[in-house]
Amino acid sequence: MTRRSQMRIALAVGMVVAVAILGFVFRGPLLERIAPRAVMTSTGTALIGGPFALVDQTGATRTDADFRGKFMLVYFGYTYCPDVCPTTLQTMTEALERLGKAAARVQPIFITIDPARDTPKVMGQYVAHFYPGMIGLTGTAAQIAAAARAYRVYYAKEAGRDQDYLMDHSGFVYLMGPDGKYITIMPPQVTAGQMAAVLAKHLGG
Ligand code: NI
Repeated sequence: MTRRSQMRIALAVGMVVAVAILGFVFRGPLLERIAPRAVMTSTGTALIGGPFALVDQTGATRTDADFRGKFMLVYFGYTYCPDVCPTTLQTMTEALERLGKAAARVQPIFITIDPARDTPKVMGQYVAHFYPGMIGLTGTAAQIAAAARAYRVYYAKEAGRDQDYLMDHSGFVYLMGPDGKYITIMPPQVTAGQMAAVLAKHLGG
């Protein structure tokens, strides 16, 4: 394959991903209000989420099944992120603080999309800055790719740098139910107040 045709394919794939992301941004909240079942496939499987097997900050393997019985508040990002990731994790932290005791029913989870640099140790030091009990998950490149695919997360390494690279990535926050199934997503710009309201609504029901 020529370099030019490789670039064409990369561009086409990128556009499909961009359209899919935009689709989630604009359809998610609307669908939740008018047709909660519409985001499910005909087999009843949620389109977002699913099984994952990753490694937590202590080096222990964690699967999605470990969190059954709790709501999961999931965010994908990376510890070297200069702005969006720490801001979003801080928003999650403040939203959970606003919930008070009910927050005990929510497990905040930060999953890296940069496993090459985000080792369990790095993840542990990083999540310690945020809500107590927040779990940081990393894994092999293949494990991270599988988890990201399940959650429809887009990510890509900045080209041309070996060490101090940035990652391009989608920044949604996912709320999953105690059964592990998808409930809703929140956009990266969500405020702590808005997130707390979404959490309170679903925890209360
Ligand atoms: Ni980021």
